Order: sequence, then structure tokens, then C-alpha cells
Amino acid sequence: MKVWCATGNPGKLREFRLAGSVLGIEIEPLPDLKSIEAPEETGATFEENACLKAAYYSRFAPGILFADDSGLEVDALGGEPGVLSARYAGGAGDDANNELVLERLGDNPHRTARFVCVIAVAEAGVVKATFRGTVEGEILHEIRGGGGFGYDPMFYYPPFGCSFGEVDGERKFAVSHRGEALRKMLGWLG
Ligand code: IMP
Repeated sequence: MKVWCATGNPGKLREFRLAGSVLGIEIEPLPDLKSIEAPEETGATFEENACLKAAYYSRFAPGILFADDSGLEVDALGGEPGVLSARYAGGAGDDANNELVLERLGDNPHRTARFVCVIAVAEAGVVKATFRGTVEGEILHEIRGGGGFGYDPMFYYPPFGCSFGEVDGERKFAVSHRGEALRKMLGWLG
């Protein structure tokens, strides 16, 4: 089976394609995604943004397409960066986003956080279903490890005893928010 994926984020795409090869499904990036004007992510929730992206990009896909919206929720920051995760530091990139979270959290001992991923599946402009995955962890006092992407190097995952920046993609995907959402989607697709 082949499904199309609408993401311009190379970190996400790498994880989806790796998982697809392990789980036996062909996940193809939507061709020419870069030449399609991106929709504005105006949703207040991960669900709303995933749905608007999937509905929009599915009009350009020859079959079933999925899009995800994901991010980090830090409890002591009232759930921030949340849906603003990609542009928390105003679009200045992953390093600046990480620094801003660390700065805002300071020495606060309450460092619980979670990654959330919502995948929306759509066909010809119509959303068919959504799937949510989460993974619980803690924000380190400094970044650790050079793997993964986004907030991975400062996200400590207690069962592994290290950050997501210190594990390979396959190990992360086995427990991650994105892995959980994708496995739910694959179960639904049959
Ligand atoms: P989106 O493209 O609007 O869904 O934004 C997702 C953003 O959330 C990314 O750019 C990262 O900053 C963050 N994020 C989502 N998933 C992960 C992950 O698995 N690891 C690290 N950061 C993530």
C-alpha cells in the first residue's frame, strides 16, 4: 500500500519513511510540495492544524494523503510552545526554539513535558480520520545529543535514561508520539 505524506520537515519525513519501511507501507512525500503554497496554520489545536493541512494538500495527491501537526507541551509553561512549536522563537529555527524554552523554564524544578502528534488522513479534500499520539518526558537543563530534530536534544525520556537526541531514529519511533499516531493510522487503513 502507498500513502502520500505532506510534510516539508526533513526530520519528520525521515521518521515516517523509516517507520514505513519497518511496518511495510510505502510512504511517499507529496511531489512538488515546495511549489505548492503552504496553507496558514491558523488552528488553535494540533487536530485543527493537522486537518487543515491534510484537507488542503490531499487535493494535490493522487490517492490517500496524511499530514501531521505536532509539538512540545511544557507543563510549567502552561502547555507552550504547543501549536507554536515550529515558530516559538519567531521562525529563527530549532536552536533558537530550544534556547527560548530553556530560558523561560530557567531553574524551575517542574520540568514535565510531552510531545504530541496528530495525524489527519484525507482524500480529495475531505478528512477521513485523525489519530493522536503522545510521549511523556522531562526538559533537561541543557541540550544533550546531536541526533533527531527540533526539541529532541533537550527532551529526556526516563525509560531510556537519555534524551531523544541521543537515540537512533528507530528506537525513538518505537516509543514516540509520531510512532504511536502512525501505528494507529496503519491499523485504521488495514
Ligand atoms: P509542525 O510542522 O507545525 O507540526 O511543527 C512541528 C514542530 O514541533 C517541529 O518543528 C519541532 O519543533 C517540534 N516537534 C514535533 N515533533 C518533534 C519531535 O519528534 N522531536 C522534536 N521536536 C518535535
